[in-house]
Amino acid sequence: MIKRLIKESKIFGIYKALCKLVPKQYETIKGGLVIEGNYKGRFVKQIVGGGNKVICKGMSSFDGTVIHITGNNNTIIFEDGCSVGPKCSFWAEGSNITIRIGAHTTFTHTVHFCAQEDGLSIEVGEDCMFSNTITVRTSDSHIITGNATGERINPGKSVKIGNHVWIAPKSMVMKGVTVGNNVIIGTNTMVTKDIPDDSLAVGIPAKVVKTNISWHRQATFESSHQKIMQAYLDK
Ligand SMILES: CC(C)(COP(=O)(O)OP(=O)(O)OC[C@H]1O[C@@H](n2cnc3c(N)ncnc32)[C@H](O)[C@@H]1OP(=O)(O)O)[C@@H](O)C(=O)NCCC(=O)NCCS
Repeated sequence: MIKRLIKESKIFGIYKALCKLVPKQYETIKGGLVIEGNYKGRFVKQIVGGGNKVICKGMSSFDGTVIHITGNNNTIIFEDGCSVGPKCSFWAEGSNITIRIGAHTTFTHTVHFCAQEDGLSIEVGEDCMFSNTITVRTSDSHIITGNATGERINPGKSVKIGNHVWIAPKSMVMKGVTVGNNVIIGTNTMVTKDIPDDSLAVGIPAKVVKTNISWHRQATFESSHQKIMQAYLDK
């Protein structure tokens, strides 16, 4: 019995070792991606198409950030000092799409940017704070048509998020939305319409519940997360 267990665990060990040899995420499978500039950390590249670029202006940090592109001539730009935590993904599906992330914007974890449809963009200003489990998207991914006309009623539209915007966990920003400067999007919020400067918006769909307010990045406690990210950046 013991011999059998040892034998089986050996086989399991070999199986585990073999599994490690097979990459979990596929790297560039067709076409290519140019990554310009300096950065710390690692990208996972899932690319089909050509002329696609990630541009890091200044120094930003990435933790296995997925760059997923299907199409040509798409550009993803990180201005100086961005910090992208684990399980974040930036998708461009279509051509001539731009995703631009302003300086000192941070992503805690599990943030998904989905920029789809030719020529559209997601623009994020400076010093924004994306918490976790957040999606920002320019398209519904599937077409809805009016029965009378047969025409599409849900065209994709670009998204713009201003400077110093805090998006709390489990929130979504949908196609065509402009979020102003110095805005808070409360937890579990679905933003479907524009949000004005200096306001707090909450709920599904988002409604503005406070105006003429400001938020501050400094945590209300000694944040272990901030310390860990700083140690990572200082490495
Ligand atoms: C956005 C947030 C900070 C606002 O806090 P606040 O300014 O104290 O807001 P209040 O509690 O006064 O709420 C104002 C109103 O909005 C409602 N509200 C607040 N947050 C809401 C939410 N996420 N969804 C729906 N309604 C919400 C309140 O019920 C209240 O409604 P009322 O005026 O009818 O009573 C807070 O709602 C929030 O989301 N906190 C979680 C932040 C978080 O997850 N941090 C950790 C990671 S960054």
